[in-house]
Amino acid sequence: MLPFDSLISATQLTPEIISDIIATTDNMATNIQQQGRIDLLDDKVVALLFFEPSSRTMMSFQSAAQRLKAGMVFAQSASATSIEKGESLEDTIRMVESYSDIIVMRHPRPGSAAIAAGTSKVPFINAGDGGNEHPTQALIDAYTIAKHKGRLDNLRVVFGFDSLQSRSIHSLSTLLAQYPNNHFTFTGPAELNPSTDMLNELKSKGAQCEIVPEVNLSDGYDIVYVNRLQEERFNEPALFEANRRKYRLTQDKVSGTDCLILDPLPRIDEIDTAVDCLPNALYFKQASYGVPVRMALLSMLLGKAI
Ligand code: CP
Repeated sequence: MLPFDSLISATQLTPEIISDIIATTDNMATNIQQQGRIDLLDDKVVALLFFEPSSRTMMSFQSAAQRLKAGMVFAQSASATSIEKGESLEDTIRMVESYSDIIVMRHPRPGSAAIAAGTSKVPFINAGDGGNEHPTQALIDAYTIAKHKGRLDNLRVVFGFDSLQSRSIHSLSTLLAQYPNNHFTFTGPAELNPSTDMLNELKSKGAQCEIVPEVNLSDGYDIVYVNRLQEERFNEPALFEANRRKYRLTQDKVSGTDCLILDPLPRIDEIDTAVDCLPNALYFKQASYGVPVRMALLSMLLGKAI
């Protein structure tokens, strides 16, 4: 079980909680293999509110709810709801909480998850609030690293290429900063380096951080975690266009290393498709873990974990 009703930020995820979620995820993965679907949430309804586009997060939450036999109610865009008519987020949540037992929401505005969770009387999960946080993605990433590296500490991690605006980088670096002896190298266009506040926060938790214009991935890194430039969050479209093809993992940069290659996806320009065949290219495997991780979270927040 979890010591909170709602998951808004990776700052809530202590190593002990992460360890419990990983163990429950393993149970869920075994259940998927052995039974396909289990009766755990057959008396529950999950509300999925996606006010910003999503493929993986929305469909893996749907799949997780289906595999747990929960019912679902949906909003797949703001324009398909009365938000389009001007209804507030708070009023929307007050209504949806009476239709469901748990609310999962993606919203384009940073901080919207905290507002919704503060309003909701049922448990709430942040499925991405603008460029702020994506804590369930961080759990998927941590699960992938734990499975394929065997540890979450003593890691040398490269983050690129939009550490300023990538909510996945924000949440994963926050999660990993709590573990001992983790070292983060941020790379990408200078304008998209992490903010001073973010760096100070990570350093205050004990992570060692550096920013470099380029990295040589054969220099003993454990993980390279890349995310597309977040086009929808640029104030200056010219800055996006000038940089979108400059930063790209290609086979020559990663082959021969045992560096795990991770990406929360969608992949746009940041990884050449020729990298996909490498044994350390794990991003589609990483995406597949979304289902058991989100099964674990839904069931733990509803007090029904096995
Ligand atoms: N990783 C992730 O959040 O992907 P989607 O935007 O497709 O949900």
